[in-house]
Amino acid sequence: MSAQTSPLADAYPHRHLLGIEGLQPHEILALLDRAESAVEISRQVEKKKAVLRGRTQINLFFEASTRTQSSFEIAGKRLGADVMNMSVSSSSVKKGETLIDTAATLNAMHPDIIVVRHHAAGAVHLLAQKVGCSVINAGDGAHEHPTQALLDALTIRRHKGKIARLTVAICGDILHSRVARSNIILLNALGARVKVVAPSTLLPNGIRQMGVEVCATMREGLADADIVMMLRLQRERMAGAFIPSVREYFRYYGLDAEKLSAARPDALVMHPGPMNRGVEIDPEIADGPQSLIREQVEMGVAVRMAVLEALSAHLPNR
Ligand code: NCD
Repeated sequence: MSAQTSPLADAYPHRHLLGIEGLQPHEILALLDRAESAVEISRQVEKKKAVLRGRTQINLFFEASTRTQSSFEIAGKRLGADVMNMSVSSSSVKKGETLIDTAATLNAMHPDIIVVRHHAAGAVHLLAQKVGCSVINAGDGAHEHPTQALLDALTIRRHKGKIARLTVAICGDILHSRVARSNIILLNALGARVKVVAPSTLLPNGIRQMGVEVCATMREGLADADIVMMLRLQRERMAGAFIPSVREYFRYYGLDAEKLSAARPDALVMHPGPMNRGVEIDPEIADGPQSLIREQVEMGVAVRMAVLEALSAHLPNR
C-alpha cells in the first residue's frame, strides 16, 4: 500500500499542522486514534518504526523548551527520522538574521519536516510559506500550540471515554496562553462545554466570542467540571502588573484541595507544564491522585508520533 492511500493520509489531508483552527472534527479524531496505537508502540521494548526512515526533521526552537522539544525529538526518532535540534542560543538569529533568512538557510538543506516554536504569533504560518517542507507549529506566541491541545484531548479521552458533553474548566493566565486558545478551539469542535476562570486582567479581549463561559471565581468556574486544566502564570510575557502579588494570586486562583472540591468528585487535574508549584497549583494536588500531569507528558510523545506520521504521507518523494 502506498503512503498516499493510507487511511491516515486520507483522514488528514494537510501538508502542515499550523493550528487546531481550521481542522475538522474527524481530522482531529483520526490523529487521536492513531496516537492510541503510538501509545502502545511507545510502551514496547522495541519502539522503532520506519515511517520516517531517510527523512530529516529539524526542531527549530526560538524559545526555550524542555518537554515539547524533547517530545518531538523522541517522536521523530521512534519513527526513524534523522532529528536535528536547532535552538536560538546557538543560531545566527542572535546575530541579527531574520526568521525568513533562517528559514531559507534551513530550506536549502532539504529538511522534510520543520517543527517550529517562536515567540511571535503568526511566525510559524509565515515560515510555512517560505519553505518547501512540512511545518508543525510547536507554539507561536499567544496564538496556538496544536500538539498540546491534541495531547490534552487524548489524555482526557482515555480517562473519560469521550470529549463531547464534558465540562472543562481552563484556569489562570488565559491571556498569554496558546495552550488555552488551542484547547478552546479543539474542545468546542468536539462538543465539550468550556469554562474559563481568570482575573479580568488575564483574559484576552473577545474571549466570549470563542464560545466559552467566563467565570471570575474558581468556585463558580469549577462547578460541574469534569476536567480542571491549570495554566502557568507566564510572568516572562508580562510587561506590567497583571496580578497584585503571587501570594494573592495563589489564594484566589491557585488550585488547592479546597477549590478542587467545587468540581465533580471524579474531576481530573491537568497542567501543560512547566508548573509553578505554589503559584497556580498546590504541590499536593499536582502530585495527587486526581492529577494527570505525568500522563500528559507520555501522551505528548504519542500525539506527536501521530502528527508526524500523518504528515509523512504528504511529503514529496524526492
Ligand atoms: C506551554 C507552552 O510553551 O506554551 N508549555 C508546553 O508546551 N509544555 C505552556 C507554558 O509555557 O506555560
